[in-house]
Amino acid sequence: MQKVFTNIGSLLQVRAPESKILRGALMADVPSIENAWLKTKDGLIEDFGSMDEFQEDSSYEEINLKGQMVAPTFVDSHTHLVFAADRDEEFVMKIKGMGYQEIAEAGGGILNSARRLQETPFEILLAGAKRRLEAAIAAGTGAIEIKSGYGLSTDAEIKMLQVIAQLKQDFDIPIKATFLGAHAFPTENHEKYMNTLLQEMLPEIYSQKLANYIDCFCEKGYFNTNQMCQLLEAGEKYELKPKVHVNQFNAIGGVEKAIEFGAVSVDHLEILPDAEVTLLKDSDTIPVGLPGCSFFLNIPFTPGRKIIENGLPLVLASDFNPGSSPSFNMSTINSLAAIKMKLLPEEAFNATTYNAAFALELENEVGSITKGKRANFIVGKPGKNLNSISYNFGVDWIERVYINAKVV
Ligand code: NIG
Ligand code: FE
Repeated sequence: MQKVFTNIGSLLQVRAPESKILRGALMADVPSIENAWLKTKDGLIEDFGSMDEFQEDSSYEEINLKGQMVAPTFVDSHTHLVFAADRDEEFVMKIKGMGYQEIAEAGGGILNSARRLQETPFEILLAGAKRRLEAAIAAGTGAIEIKSGYGLSTDAEIKMLQVIAQLKQDFDIPIKATFLGAHAFPTENHEKYMNTLLQEMLPEIYSQKLANYIDCFCEKGYFNTNQMCQLLEAGEKYELKPKVHVNQFNAIGGVEKAIEFGAVSVDHLEILPDAEVTLLKDSDTIPVGLPGCSFFLNIPFTPGRKIIENGLPLVLASDFNPGSSPSFNMSTINSLAAIKMKLLPEEAFNATTYNAAFALELENEVGSITKGKRANFIVGKPGKNLNSISYNFGVDWIERVYINAKVV
């Protein structure tokens, strides 16, 4: 059914098709129409405009929004949404003073998640992932990336990716799958695991078409830049573009290498030397910050202001995972960006909607109110505006979410 939403207080993020990612000062602007209408047809945005020029048409079902705002749904470009169990016991260890690495050495961390995931049957994993994805959509996420990386054996990595493939079937939002077999070494024998990644996992993932991207946790104690390069080179062979975890705790050269491999994005960047800002500026690789992880682990925040003030684009994602960021709430990400990274509400919103779509190569489908894009949008509660998204931290400003023009 065709729908027309009328008396929209503010229609946020109105953009023309085929525009470019927002860099630098352009991120401070969210084009909007005050007192607007919006038409949807076949699940897509058909048209929009100002109520001053509205013409009634009885072939549309009318929904009068009485001054409430409409915003495009968030695009969450970095999550680890498939996992077997929470790691709240590690959270308590952390409160008592243990560090991320220390917890990992005590049997916690990524290997803890891997052990549990290996033991968990497909159906149980899928049921948990579905519950979380439903909750993320209800919280305003309308497109998402999901990584493997808690399997760390060929069978378990494939199982995780098959769960993501099933989510793609069962949900009507765009979902991108990323292969993160290189998340941690499950054995002391690093060469052996590298061979498993390169010789076993990648060919199988390719033949089953289970991934869109390849990822690697490039960090001291995890994968070094040489190992990352071997993986990204193999990724080229299997038609998987890189989106990588780099510079979470240390800058060990991963950014430069990722750029050389034409990475779509480099994610984390809590540690970001000026020289790497310059490298990113001259590239098409998108910097992605994960403020939920910085907040939860009490580590530095990605220098968002420095990134923007140097004329770069910025994307922010939830990094939803049981170890370092157990929240998928993209409104919270907007709040953290404003409060801890000193981003304007407009910059945070652009980083989680319009720009974020580019980090998943979904810029023609989601991220803004644009003719022909999916009718994935949020109706705000009465009285809420763009500022509310970051201002009302921990408080739900969302009244309803529409996916493909249907209420969730
Ligand atoms: O993005 N840094 C690596 N991976 C995840 C955390 C994984 C975990 O602790 O389970 C991240 O923060
Ligand atoms: Fe992550």
